Amino acid sequence: ADETDETTAETMVIGSGVAGCAAALAAARAGQEVLLVTKAERPEDATSWWAQGGVAVSRADAEGFKRDVIAASDGAADPDAVDVLVENANDAVEDVLVETLDVPFDTHGDDGFAYGHEAAHGERRILHVNASTGRHVLGPFLSHLDDHPNVAIREDTAALELLTREGRVHGALCESDGEIEPIHAGATVLATGGIGALYDRSTNPEGATGDGIAMAALAGADVTDMEYVQFHPTAYAGDEPFLLSEAVRGEGALLRNDDKERFMPEYHPDAELAPRDVVARAVASERKRTGDVVLDVSPLDFESEFPDLAAKCEERGVDVEAGIPVSPAEHFVCGGVDVDSRGRTSLDQLFAVGECSRTGVHGANRLASTSLLEGLVWGLRAGQATAADGADPVVVEAPDLRDSDPALPEAFAAEKFDRLRRVMDEYVGLARTPDGLRRAGAAIRRLKGEVDAYVRTRTSRDLYELRAATVTGLLIVRAASENAESRGCHRLVGESADTTDADEENEAHAGRP
Ligand code: SIN
Repeated sequence: ADETDETTAETMVIGSGVAGCAAALAAARAGQEVLLVTKAERPEDATSWWAQGGVAVSRADAEGFKRDVIAASDGAADPDAVDVLVENANDAVEDVLVETLDVPFDTHGDDGFAYGHEAAHGERRILHVNASTGRHVLGPFLSHLDDHPNVAIREDTAALELLTREGRVHGALCESDGEIEPIHAGATVLATGGIGALYDRSTNPEGATGDGIAMAALAGADVTDMEYVQFHPTAYAGDEPFLLSEAVRGEGALLRNDDKERFMPEYHPDAELAPRDVVARAVASERKRTGDVVLDVSPLDFESEFPDLAAKCEERGVDVEAGIPVSPAEHFVCGGVDVDSRGRTSLDQLFAVGECSRTGVHGANRLASTSLLEGLVWGLRAGQATAADGADPVVVEAPDLRDSDPALPEAFAAEKFDRLRRVMDEYVGLARTPDGLRRAGAAIRRLKGEVDAYVRTRTSRDLYELRAATVTGLLIVRAASENAESRGCHRLVGESADTTDADEENEAHAGRP
């Protein structure tokens, strides 16, 4: 498939990470004419590109894999969804990643795959390509779809709103090169990824603005578990954080506080290999108590075991011998658009897959190296379901968006994004208080009001991204406020009534465009 200007499709997929690619592939294989629309301009604009650790598969102990997913989720995963994930893992990986895409997973010579180990996994079960698995999966995946006769791809094309009529979704209103046009589809698959742009420190690319979650919620779809925002414990602590894969701890790296003490054994019996939410909170608390926390890679041969990460550290001037300074960064939202085992949402002909969906697999905290897998398994199942449902595209009336009014200053959206991030960091991070959540809700509602006043009359991609981010922020705040139980990534601590910098800033900006 080449670049296209098509505006109708039997199946429209929105997003070009692994989940979107899998949905496009399965629908195309089943004979659908597929249009994949992505706001990405380059493959690396999708979060999947940045996945390091890998893809977990089921080995001798499938039941053990299921138990690990459920334990990491703090017991909140849906066991039926976990069955779907684990029981389809090997076929999906074999069919798509090994046979179709020929992903060069690391091996022990002729002795088979070099399975990696990561936190909260009871055995070595992770297929990986060094610590750059994402790009080695996504690159060939996009090339394969590019060559597929049933798939057309529109890059640099952002979905702004879903087209709906009487509870059924008929595609999306899209923006491309400043032009706004409806794209009509029999089935619409959201695969828009996560929400990293809502936080100052994130492992996601900057386009992760919650678009699909917000579009679905605004169209009336059920969205759940949004309070469970996962922070990765070991992102580089300096500017422009980058991920230091959990696989590094899996191979023996230790966490040390500013007093050079190893602290994880005091927090959890599995120490550095405890579930991610536990390690993230421990790192944050030791940073607060003692100062810098470092990842001590001296127990392993870091340079030969993780050459990609060693090169990245060198590029950034990090002295690996002294320990790599780390601190938590937003990584993955476990909740999202509620879907069934085939990716069907509560709206007719709307599907969601990958990080923007909530399959029930992750519960309150996601197990390492299950996100590419979930995207692959649910992407394939949803793509097959769009074909099985076989709805034809219907042309429906699209909302009237204009960009004719005087343009807003360029800084308008950027300044509001900064305010949103400050509020989310201050009140909706690793630890939340009821009072902080109330303040966050008030501040984000105000921001949303300021954006809503312009979004349909001075339409631009950045305003829509900002609106998606404010809607998603409110969904997180609402879910967190309504859940009084600390579980997994959602941790409530005591009340705080102090006025903070974020409060003052929001008061100061109230109502100002
Ligand atoms: C990592 O490599 O630590 C990230 C893997 C994941 O998020 O599943």
